[in-house]
Amino acid sequence: MRYDSLKDKTVVLFGAGEFGRIVLEELMKSSIKPAYFVDNNICIRNINKPCFFNGFEINSPDVLLLEEKKNLRIIITPGYPQFYEIKSQLIKMGLEDQIFSSRIGDYAKLMIIDLIDRCNLKCPTCARGLGVMPTSSKRMDKMLYKDILLKGRTEGYSRVALFNWSEPFLNTDLVEYIKIAKQENMSVLLSSNLSIKKIAHFEEVLATGVDHLTISISGDTQEIYQINHRGGNIDLVYNNIHLIFEMLQKKRINTKICLKFLKFTYNHSSEEKLAQIAKTYGINFKVHPGCGNPLNKDDYNLKHMLEQLVDYESNEDPDYNNGVCELMLRHVAIDYKGMTYLGCCNANVESTLIGKYLDLDSDYIFAKRYAHHKCVSCKWKRIPLTNKEVDKIRENVNK
Ligand SMILES: C[S@@+](CC[C@H](N)C(=O)[O-])C[C@H]1O[C@@H](n2cnc3c(N)ncnc32)[C@H](O)[C@@H]1O
Ligand code: SF4
Ligand code: SF4
Repeated sequence: MRYDSLKDKTVVLFGAGEFGRIVLEELMKSSIKPAYFVDNNICIRNINKPCFFNGFEINSPDVLLLEEKKNLRIIITPGYPQFYEIKSQLIKMGLEDQIFSSRIGDYAKLMIIDLIDRCNLKCPTCARGLGVMPTSSKRMDKMLYKDILLKGRTEGYSRVALFNWSEPFLNTDLVEYIKIAKQENMSVLLSSNLSIKKIAHFEEVLATGVDHLTISISGDTQEIYQINHRGGNIDLVYNNIHLIFEMLQKKRINTKICLKFLKFTYNHSSEEKLAQIAKTYGINFKVHPGCGNPLNKDDYNLKHMLEQLVDYESNEDPDYNNGVCELMLRHVAIDYKGMTYLGCCNANVESTLIGKYLDLDSDYIFAKRYAHHKCVSCKWKRIPLTNKEVDKIRENVNK
């Protein structure tokens, strides 16, 4: 999404949450400074104590009515379903023409790229850990990577996650890949287990321009941690968190760090302790429901995962009333060979393969994902298709 039309306008972000922050970062990169945020859940404030979000004042949406309409542009930031609730709210306020874009997923788009075909751990709840995808240690060719980013930019992607089914820090050349992403003005996201003895160029990697680093963890003691993070060593993780703390303290890096606790049935006792560690180190803490159950070998094993992924193909006559999920609109997943897949929690295997990203039109990728049997049968919340999207799918689905 190009923000050029916002220059010289009064830009207001609706929604002071996670996506509000992401859109704010994108605007700032395009040298557009919003006037303020509005939010329906603004804390009750008195005139002497305004609320702030990332340095910007948060107002009640009523304030929008005081602005000169001609100059006002409102960007709705939250995902589905709030996006549509806010859109209706603005229409009722007579501000429909002031909405910057009426389609969810037009901004904050994310490319998800595996630069390396490997992980050091064997988490039983992860397709990589289970060996669903054979491991080769190969890396993405840098020219191919650059071309992929260039194509992504033309399709409106502004962020890149350099991980999907891999451990990004095993790539000893990571700095070079991050530099390329930065040349393309993209935000860079990493997620890591950090259970690595010596991370090559650790500080340089982060300082080169990693905007966000997630540290995945599933226990505070070795005993609990290794149940899911099989092959991992909690002391190495703590050691690396400490190194990050020192880098932050000395202001050598500018990366936002989040400790992500994967919560399963057996590890609840770790939550408070990990939250405390995050607090001590001044980093964010997030609890994320862990998919699968590493304790239940029958429920979650390689055979089970493969069974879920075989025999899926494109449905040539999809149900256009089914709607599209937000991930299909916002994300694209690419492996180290430059092949694109269905994405989301589906492993990169033959049955989820769409094709070579560089050779494919974005409308074709969209249609093939929409019509894929795996997505057709998925119960994740859906957003109605626009007429334009229905046309795109019809044109492409049988190609
Ligand atoms: C497959 S991992 C690859 C990146 C890196 N190796 C890591 O573990 O962070 C990608 C994301 O999936 C998340 N993840 C891994 N196992 C999960 C599970 N069982 N349930 C939910 N999310 C999971 C991780 O926290 C991570 O952010
Ligand atoms: S560390 Fe990440 S990529 Fe590796 S097996 Fe675990 S979840 Fe999968
Ligand atoms: S499997 Fe479900 S959540 Fe994932 S991309 Fe398909 S529809 Fe969306």
